[in-house]
Amino acid sequence: MPIPIKTGAEIEGMRLAGRLASEVLDMLTPHVRAGVTTLELDRLAHDLMVHQQKGIPATLGYQPPGYPPYPASLCTSLNDVVCHGIPDERPLKNGDIVNIDVTVIKDGWHGDNSRMFVVGEGTIAARRLCQLTFDAMWKGIVKVRPGARLGDIGHAIQTFAENAGFTVVREFCGHGVGARFHEEPQVLHYGRPNTLEELVPGMIFTIEPMINAGRREIKEDRRGNRPYDGWTIVTRDRSLSAQWEHTVLVTDSGYEVLTVSAGSPPAPAFASAGYGSATAPALAG
Ligand code: MF3
Ligand code: CO
Ligand code: CO
Repeated sequence: MPIPIKTGAEIEGMRLAGRLASEVLDMLTPHVRAGVTTLELDRLAHDLMVHQQKGIPATLGYQPPGYPPYPASLCTSLNDVVCHGIPDERPLKNGDIVNIDVTVIKDGWHGDNSRMFVVGEGTIAARRLCQLTFDAMWKGIVKVRPGARLGDIGHAIQTFAENAGFTVVREFCGHGVGARFHEEPQVLHYGRPNTLEELVPGMIFTIEPMINAGRREIKEDRRGNRPYDGWTIVTRDRSLSAQWEHTVLVTDSGYEVLTVSAGSPPAPAFASAGYGSATAPALAG
């Protein structure tokens, strides 16, 4: 299957889905505090997506081959959970770090994004991992332009993370996104410059690096005496893991981040184009 190239009207649909997905994270932000359970956050997000946004939580019932249906409207990946953590009844504690990943379907289009949250103050090490991972995502985003290759994105992320002493998870990657949740291309977060597919205006894909404080290896979460839930992935050495995610459009001149809203964290200084052409925070106010 070729990489889908989105047309003008399709891009408009993706801009709306992307903004809504970002607004779910904006809404959740003040609720991510010690004492709240991830299941409570899931209900808040579900209600916003379904009743206010008139959208569909893409993860709810999502079932790729070999997986059980995903049971929630968010992924909440805590501390050593790398990805696909399932919301549950345990309250968040001061010092926890949590990735919240939300995908909204609006008018058939998918907007997919995630952010890290530090509960309370957090340790210096935890805050540094979250910040470094945010910057690593942006090191990949700023590579996006026509004529660049997917390997340029992966290489930029990998060198940045490894130079800081962190490691890059290999088993999960970014992905094309549009009328389907996961489509071509695969967007690896490691690699070599000037390799893999050449970027063309109208391609839309996620960049969503998972960065570990310790070793890069992962495993299924089989702790405790419960059966494996089929989804939760943890670091093999139980070190902390962080992730950020945006949905990004290749434009004629560079990139446009589609998962953007009033509450999006400012782009780092090295991203001189900010969120890219014609989008909110860089131009607002
Ligand atoms: N949102 C995740 C991604 O970035 C996918 C989650 S699939 C789920 O690709 F089923 F675990 F929710
Ligand atoms: Co994604
Ligand atoms: Co996601």
